[in-house]
Amino acid sequence: MNNMEQTLSIIKPDAVERHLENEIKDVFKNKGFSIIKEKKIQLEKEEAEKFYKVHETKPFYNDLCNYLSSGPIVVMVLEKENGVIANRELMGATNPADADEGTIRKKYGISIDKNSVHGSDSVENARIEIDFFFKD
Ligand code: CMP
Repeated sequence: MNNMEQTLSIIKPDAVERHLENEIKDVFKNKGFSIIKEKKIQLEKEEAEKFYKVHETKPFYNDLCNYLSSGPIVVMVLEKENGVIANRELMGATNPADADEGTIRKKYGISIDKNSVHGSDSVENARIEIDFFFKD
């Protein structure tokens, strides 16, 4: 059954800084994702805080927001059959040290903070996160 889904993907500052943006986009495309929208931006700290608000009570929240706003990022709307879960599988575990072979975080991630990519964790959050960056 057809279940095309859109999800939000972010190529994080550590990967943009290492010029991995095109390589990572090719990984998505080769796995059958269409990149529907994309833009390269740098967030203000306040915007990163808003984006990661679900994590505001976590001990790593401040560092996380400093990090996401520390340099340019590439935000993309990806589309594929069951795209939300497909993207999470392709990214791999949050901590690159725990990520499976063949995943983006295993190949490119440096640490749990510098884990190269973000992806929406549910269909509902995908809508919210896509709106956050691409609401016209
Ligand atoms: P991301 O998928 O972007 O969502 C929140 C981010 O917080 C996560 O990736 C990690 O990069 C970062 N993070 C830092 N420390 C932790 C932690 N202990 N547990 C989960 N996420 C963490």
